[in-house]
Amino acid sequence: MAEKVVETGTGKKSSEPAVNGRESWLEQYRFGLRTGERGTVVSVGDGIAWVRGLPGAAMDEILAFDDGSRGMVFHLTKDMLGAILLHQSEALTAGTEVHPGRRSLSIPVGDALLGRVVDPLGSPLDNLPAPECHAYQPLETLSPPITAREFVHEPLYTGVKIIDCMVPIGRGQRQLIIGDRGMGRSSLAIDAVINQRGKHVRCVYVLVGQKRSTVVTTMDLLNRYDAMDYTTVVVGEASALPGLQYLAPFAGCAIAEAWMNQGIDTLVVYDDLSTHARSYRELSLLLRRPPGREAYPGDIFYLHARLLERATCLNAAHGGGSMTALPIVETQQGDIASYISTNLISITDGQLYLDQSLFDEGFRPAIDVTRSVSRIGGKAQHACIQKEAGSMKLGYLQFLELEIFTRFGARLEASMEARIRRGRILRELLKQDRLSPLPATFQMAWLVAFNEGCFDNSTPQDVGAQLERLQSRLEDSELTLDDARERWASAVTTWLERAPEKGR
Ligand SMILES: Nc1ncnc2c1ncn2[C@@H]1O[C@H](COP(=O)(O)OP(=O)(O)OP(=O)(O)O)[C@@H](O)[C@H]1O
Ligand SMILES: [Mg+2]
Repeated sequence: MAEKVVETGTGKKSSEPAVNGRESWLEQYRFGLRTGERGTVVSVGDGIAWVRGLPGAAMDEILAFDDGSRGMVFHLTKDMLGAILLHQSEALTAGTEVHPGRRSLSIPVGDALLGRVVDPLGSPLDNLPAPECHAYQPLETLSPPITAREFVHEPLYTGVKIIDCMVPIGRGQRQLIIGDRGMGRSSLAIDAVINQRGKHVRCVYVLVGQKRSTVVTTMDLLNRYDAMDYTTVVVGEASALPGLQYLAPFAGCAIAEAWMNQGIDTLVVYDDLSTHARSYRELSLLLRRPPGREAYPGDIFYLHARLLERATCLNAAHGGGSMTALPIVETQQGDIASYISTNLISITDGQLYLDQSLFDEGFRPAIDVTRSVSRIGGKAQHACIQKEAGSMKLGYLQFLELEIFTRFGARLEASMEARIRRGRILRELLKQDRLSPLPATFQMAWLVAFNEGCFDNSTPQDVGAQLERLQSRLEDSELTLDDARERWASAVTTWLERAPEKGR
């Protein structure tokens, strides 16, 4: 039943002292009858509260509790509603009064958030004053309509050789990073963020349900590599209320969306959505929503789809901004067919699959090229790099199959042996340490060098030194991606041919 409270005048309770003195209170006094709903907490615990007496409440509406706690309507039943708590004071208990906010949740957005670490409600977590934002963006909005969208056409360089050459990503693309725990998923995302320095891309790094130590390490890395100038970190850590963990990706998305609507390119990392799905499941089960497959609620697909659909590339009429999303998902024992992984694979535009055996063999980043794909990124790749890398992926996949034969000691034709030798060199070339993103010109340099056969007489052990030489010579040169291929070819062959003579 609705409890209706009849308030008179300005709505202030008569026992409250007038703010500007009795006279001004009298001046502002208007006769009239106002009605408002008032609910009561029935039970509270595990980050949720059951409330009775707010029949007019709507989904996602903000609730203000009398003790200062805040919540959001998450589940409606006939005579009660379930709310997730966003801020909980120690005084919150059964019987506390609740007032509906009549609005849904929004977060302060804008340039003041650059370099800041905030929680999903926009409150600072870095011991600095609250960011001075003048605009707000709702956490949940509709994704841009199809008429506002543009094909993905500009590359987003991650600085990782294997990605930029074989599985390229475009601005506005959604590329899933999938793999077991500890396979270097976060490292790839951090590398991508670090590589955006000077590229006019604003980044939002969302940490969901991570340990405090992981949060600190991530922020340390971003600070150390000067990435915080153009980055905002949104944290819903493991010890936070489950409601905050659930909202963190939406908050990160809203922050990036506001920049995208201003025509700015953005990159959002969701680290990671498996934990996000788990916190959503936890909240749903606590609120007695019917469990579906693996006890996840039936709308878990829709939850991630509506988050990732907001990442897109807008057309010129809508400012031309973009939001690239790098969601991260965890697999168990390399099983990509699990529920959440398959959902995310089908929502995104491609995936980077990280493989345990490659990681153990020392091939890092442990991206399994056979199972990684970028469905739309090729269109965004620079024409020169695309031309150079065009047949490389296929050749590499053929090499991986051929290599299996050599394990049985089979005798191979000379041409096959050459292909295998070349493949082994390529595998060595594709290895890359973390936190060392490489510019697009370097990608071009090593691709041309490889295609020109500059590495054909090298052994896998030499490759590292040769790449270093290539990099140092490239830094002194003025070659750009738009230069003719002949210039590139002659430059890289001279750089790589002369150096061994010097060494002798
Ligand atoms: N390219 C690389 N070169 C060398 N080491 C790497 C590389 N990528 C990742 N690593 C190492 O792998 C380990 C795991 O990396 P990371 O924390 O990024 O993985 P994760 O999949 O995010 O793990 P978690 O499950 O803890 O989130 C780290 O110790 C990191 O130093
Ligand atoms: Mg990680």
